[in-house]
Amino acid sequence: MKRLLATVGMGLALVLFLAIPVSRAEYGDVVINNFSDAAGMRPVVFPHWFHRVRFRCKVCHADLGFKFQAGGNEINMVKIIDGEYCGACHNGEIAWSVENCNLCHSGVPGTPTQVHESTIQKLVAPGGKTGPAAAKK
Ligand code: HEC
Ligand code: HEC
Ligand code: HEC
Repeated sequence: MKRLLATVGMGLALVLFLAIPVSRAEYGDVVINNFSDAAGMRPVVFPHWFHRVRFRCKVCHADLGFKFQAGGNEINMVKIIDGEYCGACHNGEIAWSVENCNLCHSGVPGTPTQVHESTIQKLVAPGGKTGPAAAKK
């Protein structure tokens, strides 16, 4: 009986462990804020892993020319609308288009450019990102 209970206990612990939701990919996100705050926009939160599972590194870091450094690219909206950087995909064809300002500019104002390494600190401002479902194609 004791052994049975121990086994059940272990099983339960395992279930609880597995039930802990995987962090919502905030870890590893890149905050890009070279110009946003100064321009009165919320900083950009780039979900790196979300993109990494969908595209090869080469697509962005070779073909599109993104340098391997948080904030290391002089990205602005003119370039994006011209189809550079994020705009190579966020053009209403490969992914939702640039008019969804808040989906990219979703950061807490004042958050500096960084690679986010905390799963506790919240990057996204309340009411900021409404998720891709809210995005118009
Ligand atoms: C696909 C992602 C994306 C979307 C959508 C987007 N932006 Fe940006 N935006 C960026 C990135 C990345 C930067 C560079 C951030 C930085 O360095 O601060 C930027 C920078 C800016 C800047 C500062 C530089 C500049 O060009 O003046 C402004 C202002 C801005 N965005 C406004 C907007 C507005 C308004 C919209 C909606 C019409 C919008 N953005 C939609 C990604 C996006
Ligand atoms: C959809 C485009 C995209 C893909 C795919 C992608 N990256 Fe990135 N990566 C970026 C952007 C954007 C940044 C931030 C650049 C900036 O802030 O200007 C970045 C930043 C980085 C950085 C510097 C920040 C950090 O986390 O240390 C490294 C290293 C990096 N990427 C490695 C990779 C590797 C390895 C892969 C493939 C497994 C990959 N990336 C795939 C877009 C991409
Ligand atoms: C190589 C193509 C590509 C590039 C470059 C790219 N994205 Fe994306 N992005 C996508 C695709 C595809 C999706 C998924 C779209 C969908 O769900 O409809 C996406 C989704 C997103 C999302 C929503 C993630 C979520 O949780 O739903 C954000 C935010 C985002 N991108 C920001 C950016 C920013 C900021 C940049 C530039 C720094 C960028 N993306 C560059 C292809 C790209």
